[in-house]
Amino acid sequence: MIVTIDGPAGAGKSSVALKLAETLGFFFLDTGAMYRCITLACMQAQVDLEDPAATLDMAQCCQIDLAKGSVALNQIDVTRQIRTPAVAKSIKPIAENPEIRALMVQQQRRICAGQDCVTEGRDQGTVAFPDAECKIFLTATPEERARRRYQQLLVIGIDADYDEILRQQNQRDENDSNRLAGPLIAAPDAFVVGTDGMSEQQVHDKLLEIVRLRIVDNTSESVTK
Ligand code: C5P
Repeated sequence: MIVTIDGPAGAGKSSVALKLAETLGFFFLDTGAMYRCITLACMQAQVDLEDPAATLDMAQCCQIDLAKGSVALNQIDVTRQIRTPAVAKSIKPIAENPEIRALMVQQQRRICAGQDCVTEGRDQGTVAFPDAECKIFLTATPEERARRRYQQLLVIGIDADYDEILRQQNQRDENDSNRLAGPLIAAPDAFVVGTDGMSEQQVHDKLLEIVRLRIVDNTSESVTK
């Protein structure tokens, strides 16, 4: 079974998707981490982020390993580095590059082949897994999302500025929604869940309820067939 969780930056997707995957015993795929890794690799190698051919070359050479709760780029742990505002600010040309997106989608499908997965991103229910059994679109107001991101950064020891996070987040929402390849959009068959005022546990429980409903639906569909 594939459960896709898409939505804008800071909607709480990563933490809740990881927790949901643990509850279900599914593999967790954080696709944002993949775009962050490519961006970091380009920055480290001083590849011009605006050069689509050079960034694609770099993407093709990156080995990204997504283990539970940690991310390795070419066998070096970059879990914390990929979350810095400097990386977030530079992602746009990487996420807009259709060839890099195609490469990422190919890798995402390979990773999820033959195993139950919760996969999280912007285009998982629309492009990567259009036939997923359960699609969720998680969202919240911009202010609530920025506040959560600010708290997350503080917890991992990154000094952050709320107004700057909100500004960057609005910019990223706009970039993510307006790009031609894999834009941020709810799949027509996705359950849309607004998480304002909900605790992480409440969001988790709501998503679990949705997944269980889909499991029951799928089971009865296959019995009918
Ligand atoms: O989810 P996260 O904030 O880590 O994603 C970082 C960036 O990667 C997003 O702003 C978006 O531009 C890009 N992304 C994407 N497609 C995905 C996941 C993330 O374009 N499936």
